[in-house]
Amino acid sequence: MSFRILGTGMFVPERIVKNDELSNYVDTNDEWIVQRVGIKERRIATHETCTDMAAEAAKAALDNAGIDASDLDLIIASTVSGDYASPSLACMVQKRIGATCMAFDVSAACSAFLFLLETAAGYFARGKAKKVLVVSSERLSRILDWSDRSTCVIFGDGAGAVVLEEGDNYIDAVFNVTGDNEVLKIPMYTGESPFNTVEPEKPVIHMMGQETFKYAVTSICNDVKALLEQNNLTLDDIKYIVPHQANKRIIDMSARRLGVPVEKFCLNIDRYGNTSSASVPIVLDELNRNGSLNRGDLLLLTAFGGGLSDAACLIKW
Ligand code: COA
Repeated sequence: MSFRILGTGMFVPERIVKNDELSNYVDTNDEWIVQRVGIKERRIATHETCTDMAAEAAKAALDNAGIDASDLDLIIASTVSGDYASPSLACMVQKRIGATCMAFDVSAACSAFLFLLETAAGYFARGKAKKVLVVSSERLSRILDWSDRSTCVIFGDGAGAVVLEEGDNYIDAVFNVTGDNEVLKIPMYTGESPFNTVEPEKPVIHMMGQETFKYAVTSICNDVKALLEQNNLTLDDIKYIVPHQANKRIIDMSARRLGVPVEKFCLNIDRYGNTSSASVPIVLDELNRNGSLNRGDLLLLTAFGGGLSDAACLIKW
């Protein structure tokens, strides 16, 4: 026993920031961003908090699933840009949607949505839950260095959620973790201790772009191939690959290496940028609502990011 996806939801802030507007803050331009990353615009929170976005995405997913918050047995959430170190985002969502169930966060940066699904699968396997809300929300604009053109142009804000119920549609998953805080990191606020003797690091996203790029392509290709082999499938059996939305060129290169048309990969990075752990459930919600999915379709979800961590899973819609 694992689960099936009963409903999906998403929320993005109202404020659209197009590439040209970013040239007010850093030396950049629309042409560079479109060519090198594939982003045309992103949503940036003005007043929406990480909790606000998570709660709205969660409500949309509950509505789509046709169940109430009181039916939930578990809420699990992810964020690297939450409003509080404590309470967890999951606890805040529980309060905001009026649920009373168990709630906690899982930390795995941009791959976290897939780690959440695996965690949920464990609850279903043990018969400990019948309905689970999984929600990923990111207000990355809060943790960007708005003077660093190599990072501030590629991220955006948003949230995505799914409601799961008992079923057999979570077929298989692969996970890899390589502890590393050089390639990608978000240092914590160091605090104001009068006893601290260590030079504080800026609590913003630090990224080695080209190393991350190479890691991303390698991990997507290896994870996809591993899942296909483990399940005696080929890419012809897969309706869509739903990748973490980090850079259009990462997807183009992965598609070339895997020998599949890039159209097999679902992309919305042009409209939202990289929303970290929220990116995969946002794509899923768009696919669900625009009628692209039929029951029985096989989907491959894939993600990578800080940790370093990467993952892929095989789901029957
Ligand atoms: N606008 C204009 N020029 C920019 C720029 C911007 N926003 N950002 C960087 N540049 C410049 C650089 O300064 C450099 O100029 P130089 O040649 O005069 O030194 C030039 O563009 C090329 O820089 P480089 O870092 O080699 O670009 P790139 O092709 O590697 O693209 C990234 C940079 C960050 C877009 C790319 O490496 C990337 O997407 N990496 C993966 C990031 C990722 O996936 N992150 C999320 C992980 S979850």
